Amino acid sequence: MEKAIHLNALAELLRRRIARGGPISLAEYMALALGHPEHGYYQHGDPFGVEGDFVTAPEISQVFGELLGGWCAVLWEAMGQPQTLRLIEAGPGRGTLMQDVLRAASHKSGFREALQLHLIETSPGLRDQQKRALQAFRPSFHAHLDDVPEGPSLLLANEFFDSLPIRQFARTTDGWRERLVTFSETPPAFCFTLAATRTPSQQIPAGLRDAPIGSIAEISLPGLSLTHAIAERVCRHGGAALILDYGSPVTKAGETFQSVRGHRFHDPFAQPGEADLTAHVDFAALAEAARAGGAHVPPPVPQGVFLSRLGIKARADQLAQKAATTEAAAIHAACRRLIDPEEMGTLFQVLAIAQPDLVALPGFDTT
Ligand SMILES: C[S@@+](CC[C@H](N)C(=O)[O-])C[C@H]1O[C@@H](n2cnc3c(N)ncnc32)[C@H](O)[C@@H]1O
Repeated sequence: MEKAIHLNALAELLRRRIARGGPISLAEYMALALGHPEHGYYQHGDPFGVEGDFVTAPEISQVFGELLGGWCAVLWEAMGQPQTLRLIEAGPGRGTLMQDVLRAASHKSGFREALQLHLIETSPGLRDQQKRALQAFRPSFHAHLDDVPEGPSLLLANEFFDSLPIRQFARTTDGWRERLVTFSETPPAFCFTLAATRTPSQQIPAGLRDAPIGSIAEISLPGLSLTHAIAERVCRHGGAALILDYGSPVTKAGETFQSVRGHRFHDPFAQPGEADLTAHVDFAALAEAARAGGAHVPPPVPQGVFLSRLGIKARADQLAQKAATTEAAAIHAACRRLIDPEEMGTLFQVLAIAQPDLVALPGFDTT
């Protein structure tokens, strides 16, 4: 006899939706598991830190945000020091990154007076934390980039794009088909099924159309349209953006959809809404979307290279000099974790999107 499993409220809701309307796209599953207004992962609790599900770069070392703050100050100057600057962060988490960015960038004379802080965040609990962490800068909150007033802008997004929903497609002997999420009663669980109809190959990234049978292609349409919108914004009013995340600088076949709970990989179809769901970011596709929006987009660089070019070692030494011995060792260890190719240095990539005449971007190749 099958063992009865407990479906949480969101799983029950998804099961009924599938029973009514048939299998749903992976993007729909992901969007609901992360963002359902009542049961979505980001609607409750604090997923960060040792006690939570994952740790992000700004939670590892203050140096990460400080270097990005320095980048923003240099860019603001290169933009001609506009009197009003929209400093935008997508998915600010606990507000830690922006605190460090602002502390460093405020050393630049006039920057603090020019800045208007705009945070794109859907989680009510995290909005509360961000409000407390950044109250001195009176942030405005938005659900989407489109809601942020137009004007010269600098935008930062760290580990944001990996949480945007993806669709998956499988290369079968009969062409490409979308992988949809269905519910199997025996045993009761969510699982993949293939769409009944073929996906036109124009919908598959050009470099993957002839991939071998069995290959998986992933596409984040919200990620591509947001990148395009960022590019159009910086071209219209001036500015630049930095996208930092785990992913690949080239479009690759392969399944990267994953779930993490309590710092361990977890079944992405178990207890939807109770664990983080992400996919690796296709930086080549984002770069192409941004170039199509008219922006200057140098090739993405690995995070280790980017932070090293911005001077992570010198900043770590400076902090360590003022610290006690054990604390100094921890400062160096944290910075090493951000840049070491075996840790976050290569897995994480950095993409810049800039107004067309801002060609000298710190941390990127200018050739
Ligand atoms: C993994 S956390 C990264 C937090 C932070 N950037 C950091 O580096 O610590 C993802 C953040 O994006 C927010 N988020 C996820 N999906 C979102 C969406 N579709 N719209 C707005 N915010 C979203 C989450 O609530 C959270 O603040």
